[in-house]
Amino acid sequence: MANLSGKTAVITGGNSGIGYATAKKFKAEGAKVIITGRSEERVRIAENELGVKGIVADVTNLSALDDLVGQVKNEFGQLDILFVNAGVFAPAPVGQNTEEMFDTQMGINFKGAVFTIEKFLSLLTDGASIINLSSINAYTGMPNTSIYAASKAALNAYTRTAATELAPRKIRVNSVNPGPVATPIFAKTGMQESQLNDFAGAIQNRIPLKRFGQPEEIANLVAFLASDDASFITGSEYNIDGGMNVNPLLS
Ligand SMILES: NC(=O)c1ccc[n+]([C@@H]2O[C@H](COP(=O)([O-])OP(=O)(O)OC[C@H]3O[C@@H](n4cnc5c(N)ncnc54)[C@H](OP(=O)(O)O)[C@@H]3O)[C@@H](O)[C@H]2O)c1
Repeated sequence: MANLSGKTAVITGGNSGIGYATAKKFKAEGAKVIITGRSEERVRIAENELGVKGIVADVTNLSALDDLVGQVKNEFGQLDILFVNAGVFAPAPVGQNTEEMFDTQMGINFKGAVFTIEKFLSLLTDGASIINLSSINAYTGMPNTSIYAASKAALNAYTRTAATELAPRKIRVNSVNPGPVATPIFAKTGMQESQLNDFAGAIQNRIPLKRFGQPEEIANLVAFLASDDASFITGSEYNIDGGMNVNPLLS
């Protein structure tokens, strides 16, 4: 039997990468799926490819979030699964972080995530599942990730408090912390291809399983947390990183 049949799911940032793979997985598991994104063009392409509903909504724009919630309410009534996935990565060393880099990453990865949840609360069914896409960068101290890491650490702190406060409604709230996953997020940083290859090679060498994750592998974990199989799991974080968080000194 399909694991998510009868459930309705919203995935922010579902036109690409992990969100896209998760939309495909949720649909295969029987859910009705709504994806969002900033780019009208990318949302429409993904909507057609996936055969799901696409809605353009920038998570940093609170009135766009109100419109999104209104559209989902009108068309689907209520919501069982909220995958808070939209995010960006703007690497820079300490001392070269700009105000714009700070505002963009905190604005999308933290503020955008928080207000996505706050706005959808009234539509969430009792027993709903919220999954926040964080990162092991919240913990690793990896160079050039200070603001990104802080945005994800803040999201994990919000996750834990939200899990406590929403428990009376049986709404479960969990975080997923991936290690490096092969998605367009790295190319969007503006790094040259040779820089990207050097970066990927250096990172891969630090991962015990010696490879990047695939978006589908993250989607499998998210689908589990979204399902009733995870009914006793809330306030938790799941590292999914090929062992990178154990940070071996020798390998
Ligand atoms: N890839 C990794 O190695 C990795 C590791 C750990 C955590 N993560 C996290 O995983 C999540 C997904 O990233 P990804 O790797 O799949 O990257 P991706 O392929 O670049 O996808 C990012 C998605 O977020 C959307 N998005 C960005 N800003 C938005 C905004 N302001 N409002 C609405 N949507 C917005 C993008 O839509 P548009 O194209 O329309 O802007 C896109 O659909 C992010 O939160 C990221 O931090 C990724």
